[in-house]
Amino acid sequence: MELHIAETREDLVERMARAAAEWIGAHPGSLVCLAAGDTPLPVYARLVALQAEGRVDLASVFYAGLDEWVGLGPADAGSCLQVMRDAFYDPAGIPADRRRVFDGLADPATECRAMERWIEAHGGIRFTLLGIGMNGHVGFNEPGAPDGEGCLVVALDDITQTVGVKYFDRERTLRQGVTVGLRSLSKAEIVFLMATGERKADIVGRMLSGDPAVPASRLLPHPGLRIYLDREAAGRL
Ligand code: PGA
Repeated sequence: MELHIAETREDLVERMARAAAEWIGAHPGSLVCLAAGDTPLPVYARLVALQAEGRVDLASVFYAGLDEWVGLGPADAGSCLQVMRDAFYDPAGIPADRRRVFDGLADPATECRAMERWIEAHGGIRFTLLGIGMNGHVGFNEPGAPDGEGCLVVALDDITQTVGVKYFDRERTLRQGVTVGLRSLSKAEIVFLMATGERKADIVGRMLSGDPAVPASRLLPHPGLRIYLDREAAGRL
């Protein structure tokens, strides 16, 4: 495991975007899994800028979405699909046949199987960039959820439902999610886990202490884990 702590969020974003661009440049045709969330969005913006500068070809790899709220589709503000399309896939010019994201309007179990087939057809996820939720989730791998193989339909934790409100333009009752499971994420060679801001300091501290109630702790033994924190998120270490 590598632990990277940057003084500022901007420094962190720059460091991560350059490292991700370097990896993508060296692994054309590989499958990359990117989290949708407020935390990593600046990294995606910087990757798009690096591509505009001619420093990386973001369409040289394939993409798998990490998770989705069951019940939300492409027209819904706050769906992971909409967030990633607007923040990354469209500005980066990723062709539709190079990306697959969960459809939250489709039958969740069928979606899981379809995503598993996509992952398998592209040789498994080799690189993933993840955030950590306020309850320690990665994707929708919630506290207490099984360490499932493949993709999972999960009951959303109360904290996830409460925090999720910030993504939506109106009140939503969302009880389920679909996600790539922790075991499939753990097969990646490189796992970037990112946290910024003081509000993440407690959960990051609990994760790094190996708290078994924190799903992200299960990534700690991964040899390719690189944890990226700004000074505020590292405040309880
Ligand atoms: P955030 O989401 O970046 O909005 O905090 C992280 C997460 O819940 O996975």
